[in-house]
Amino acid sequence: MNIVTCEATANIAVVKYWGKRDDKLILPTNSSLSFTMDEQLRTRTSVAFDSSFKEDEFWLNGKKMDLTDKETAERLQQIDVIRKKAGITTKAKIVSLNCFPTAAGFASSAAGLAALACAASKAAGLNLSPSELSILARLGSGSACRSVDGGFVEWKMGSKTDGSDSIAVQIAPASHWPELRNVIAVVDAGKKKVSSRAGMKQTIATSVLYPARLQYVPKLIEEMKKAVLAKDFAKFGELTMRESSNMHAVMLDTWPSITYLNDYSKEIMYAVQEFNASKGSIKAAYTFDAGPNAHVYTTADQVEEVVKLLSRIEGVTKTMVCKVGEGPKYLNQGHLIDSNGNAKEARFDEIKKEIIVK
Ligand code: DP6
Repeated sequence: MNIVTCEATANIAVVKYWGKRDDKLILPTNSSLSFTMDEQLRTRTSVAFDSSFKEDEFWLNGKKMDLTDKETAERLQQIDVIRKKAGITTKAKIVSLNCFPTAAGFASSAAGLAALACAASKAAGLNLSPSELSILARLGSGSACRSVDGGFVEWKMGSKTDGSDSIAVQIAPASHWPELRNVIAVVDAGKKKVSSRAGMKQTIATSVLYPARLQYVPKLIEEMKKAVLAKDFAKFGELTMRESSNMHAVMLDTWPSITYLNDYSKEIMYAVQEFNASKGSIKAAYTFDAGPNAHVYTTADQVEEVVKLLSRIEGVTKTMVCKVGEGPKYLNQGHLIDSNGNAKEARFDEIKKEIIVK
């Protein structure tokens, strides 16, 4: 049995994706930019297509998922696209294990759906480029398309209605800025009240500030790329913080209003601003996704101080320092499916212990 296993990692955007122009193909209203994170934030996924399978099966973190559930089926639509592309009709077994430390505070579908695109396409006999893989990953979750490559990645929004030019492209490899760090400050590991998917739809429908955001993003994309390529942290940091606030402003302007940041997030914003003021220039930059946990970009020479600063803030329960990652990796061992085609769910706890980076 041909079992393919891949590990992919999460990414943290500095120019955010918040809005779709096509809900089914997941085509965005603006381009976005992110750094792929290191292996601390990884998902391992094994896939096999085999004539002995009677139906598709999907196991996530040791639990067999219900494929008649609408959201799960939507997230896995890439499997049918892969089968069609490869000219096969065999059923698939997909087994995925999220290896984020449980207290990391956010469950990222990005790592999982990128790992799935890589493992499933290869298991079906396809040999796809990162941009082709990004189209598959995108069908499960928009932000996942940026995790099919390492380093600094742009998701180009594209303009075609079939989504064939809405692809991720690497702008610089991980080796471009090895000193860059992302300090995650966890303030709330709970489930969010409004999902990104529902929230961004509501923003497009109601926010009067949103059209202004769409006008400003193309210029921001160019400025951000320039700052990163020049490794100009002060410029990069300012753009990153302002962009995070711009996205959270349109969220607040949505009706009914959406607030992902809490008082602790705001404490973190002020602490970083004071830190930068004390240094005389921008040395740390926060960004927040659809939740209150902070991602503070900084550089290796500042990281110790930034971790101390964040750890002192009331409500911060954990900090974690990530580097920029190299992108997905295929593994020759450690498959989550045994040679008879069964999910190794009984061994998951054991496997997880082996692969979680402490
Ligand atoms: C705030 O990719 O989770 O993290 O495409 O509906 O699955 P769907 O949304 P998702 O949205 C992520 C939004 C964000 C910003 C970003 O990562 O760019």
